Amino acid sequence: MFNDSPFDVSRRGLLCAGFAALVGAVLMPRPASARENDAAKLRIGVIGAGRIGGTVGGLWVKSGHPVLFSSRHPDELQDLVAKLGPLAQAGTVAQAIAFGDALFVAVPYGALPRLGQDYADALKGKIVLDAGNAVAARDGAIADEAERSGIGITSQKYLAGTRLVRAFNTLSYLILAREANRPPPRLAIPIAGDDAAAMQVAAELVRDAGFEPVTVGGLADASRFQRGRPGYGQAVTAAELRQTLSLSP
Ligand SMILES: NC(=O)c1ccc[n+]([C@@H]2O[C@H](COP(=O)([O-])OP(=O)(O)OC[C@H]3O[C@@H](n4cnc5c(N)ncnc54)[C@H](OP(=O)(O)O)[C@@H]3O)[C@@H](O)[C@H]2O)c1
Repeated sequence: MFNDSPFDVSRRGLLCAGFAALVGAVLMPRPASARENDAAKLRIGVIGAGRIGGTVGGLWVKSGHPVLFSSRHPDELQDLVAKLGPLAQAGTVAQAIAFGDALFVAVPYGALPRLGQDYADALKGKIVLDAGNAVAARDGAIADEAERSGIGITSQKYLAGTRLVRAFNTLSYLILAREANRPPPRLAIPIAGDDAAAMQVAAELVRDAGFEPVTVGGLADASRFQRGRPGYGQAVTAAELRQTLSLSP
């Protein structure tokens, strides 16, 4: 099983003079109209551009999506966006939220409550794909809550007002990087959410990243593929995952 343990990422050496002056340009939010119908051109804001955020965000860039990568230290993302080319840019968390028609949240799970609190207004109504896993050793008490209440319900509690979909939490970024866009049958990515339109967008974004979405159910069902559960860590096809989770084909 994929063991999503804490990991020390050293990106502090990537500071680039003058970078702060570059971010902020071209980050104008678009009016909230008709964008969700055009998934091919959706702009994506990545919050937490580490291993999973950097990897999945990079796959979206490769498929033609403009992506704004963010973290608390956007100056350290210069290298990542330079490698990905003109569709990729880096900025602050606030800029990513304003930029994204859809957001991808890939921060340590313990950071979720603060994120939801600090950006409550900006996050309202946003489609959010949440890839976080609750790991007791790293995330503390919230891991117990996620275990007790189910991770979909817990994420929605802390990212209140968002149109939340659980996605991309079950497999290592290394597997995702290696298996994206492989010849059919593609690798399955389980998704769960309560907002039908957000689920449609998430399914499209899973396809654009090079995988096959498998709808498991609503947010309460996201527990079926949270850490330690049967749908977690399954590097399998959609048909195999549906069989494991007793979902209809
Ligand atoms: N690694 C995997 O293969 C994998 C797979 C599936 C799911 N996940 C889950 O995805 C999440 C991220 O894991 P990861 O391995 O990608 O971690 P990581 O490599 O350590 O990256 C975490 C990112 O989040 C940023 N960050 C941390 N706290 C933040 C905050 N309060 N606000 C905004 N950004 C913040 C970090 O940058 P700064 O420190 O500069 O802010 C960094 O860019 C975790 O919940 C993990 O369980 C990981």
